[in-house]
Amino acid sequence: MVDVILGLQWGDEGKGKIVDYFAPNYDIVARFQGGPNAGHTLYVEGKKMVLHQIPSGIFHQNKINIIGGGVVLDPVTLKRECDAVAAHGIDVRKNLFISERTNIIVPTHRALDKASELSKGESKIGSTLKGIGPAYMDKTGRNALRVGDLLDKNFTSQYIKLRLKHQKLLDNFHFIEDISSWEDEFFEALEFLKTLNVINCEYFINNEITKGKKVLAEGAQGSMLDIDFGTFPFVTSSNTISAGVCTGLGVSPKKINDVMGVSKAYCTRVGSGPFPTELEDATGEELRKIGSEFGATTGRPRRCGWIDLVALKYTCMINGVNKIIMTKADVLDSFNQLEVCTAYDVNGTISEEVPYQISRAKISPVLKSFKGWNTDTSQIKTADALPTEMNTYIDFINNYVGAPVKFVSNGPGRDQIVPL
Ligand code: GDP
Ligand code: IMO
Ligand code: MG
Repeated sequence: MVDVILGLQWGDEGKGKIVDYFAPNYDIVARFQGGPNAGHTLYVEGKKMVLHQIPSGIFHQNKINIIGGGVVLDPVTLKRECDAVAAHGIDVRKNLFISERTNIIVPTHRALDKASELSKGESKIGSTLKGIGPAYMDKTGRNALRVGDLLDKNFTSQYIKLRLKHQKLLDNFHFIEDISSWEDEFFEALEFLKTLNVINCEYFINNEITKGKKVLAEGAQGSMLDIDFGTFPFVTSSNTISAGVCTGLGVSPKKINDVMGVSKAYCTRVGSGPFPTELEDATGEELRKIGSEFGATTGRPRRCGWIDLVALKYTCMINGVNKIIMTKADVLDSFNQLEVCTAYDVNGTISEEVPYQISRAKISPVLKSFKGWNTDTSQIKTADALPTEMNTYIDFINNYVGAPVKFVSNGPGRDQIVPL
């Protein structure tokens, strides 16, 4: 049986904290897509950790953590992260498994990412520049190197072939970057990668499921950044939605049980692209300040706005969400008035659907106001202690979206979560 935790907005919903919270209920935690563009924050014994490649269950000693085949893996980031995790007494050689199908991010992928963004000028995607798009292009273009190829005697010649191909593309972009120091680090990290557990993920995970083991699939990014259903072209390059669990891990849709969607009580986006409820005013600044809304991977300030229920209902539909986990509710503690977006005004036409043309149409949000709760909720432990105004806010979301909020997260700490 596989349960899923994934983001319902534009990423950074607090998935890392939530996966860390639920991990004790599972035997295996597995990342199924994305790469080091992810930055999942969690607190271990009060110390902040940000994970980019390793699943967020790693700090639970007796759990297996898998990097699935749908992931793109930067060996340099992985090595760095393994060192950081080992400093907490975690034995990655015991707890971390990597699928042989996982595609490798090579140094020229990062250079290509930069070159591509530069060439787009004003219309750049706002990529994290971690090489994600180029790495997935090599996967679908059937050129990629995979972790299972590492021990192949032709690996180095295959790498050189790929680098030459990339060099031609970089020349076309007139992009020059000396990657020799990246390459040294890359090859050093590959030697480290060879010492880790590389598995056939699909057999491993299905055998474990047959034995009755419980798997938690951890999404990266958010559903509105999905390559097919997000705000294309301002998206990432993988399927971030629940369907990605099947292709990323090799499990059948019939094995998927709960799909737990994580949404902030408001909304953020980092990078370019449409964001109908964005607040480019003092209120947006307030949300950014109180919510410490700065990217965990790039440090960029996150764009902030009110919760967008049109988008949330859409992503619940696409994912089959049966439980919503509402994070960062405490960030709204001091607001007198809250707004939620209940429809889009698309060039004068009111709609409750996310339009295909979302990246091109002029969209104004139709907002409904709610009274704020004006209470410090960060120490609340039980549902009955939540303020009435928060319950009203949540009830409205439940009814609109058609999926229930089952947990409210009221702080970044492991214990700051209230089951409803
Ligand atoms: P992820 O990418 O979805 O894992 O989210 P990030 O780690 O990028 O960003 C979420 C940020 O919010 C992190 O700094 C978390 O520590 C923090 N956070 C998570 N849940 C809560 C919450 O309920 N309240 C507050 N105030 N912060 C939270
Ligand atoms: P987590 O897992 C927020 C955004 C980038 C950019 C777009 C494409 O921490 O929620 P890419 O690097 O994939 O080429 O960038 O997607 N993006 C994220 N935004 N959280 C993330 O991950 C993101 N990963 C990518 O800012 O707009
Ligand atoms: Mg993040």
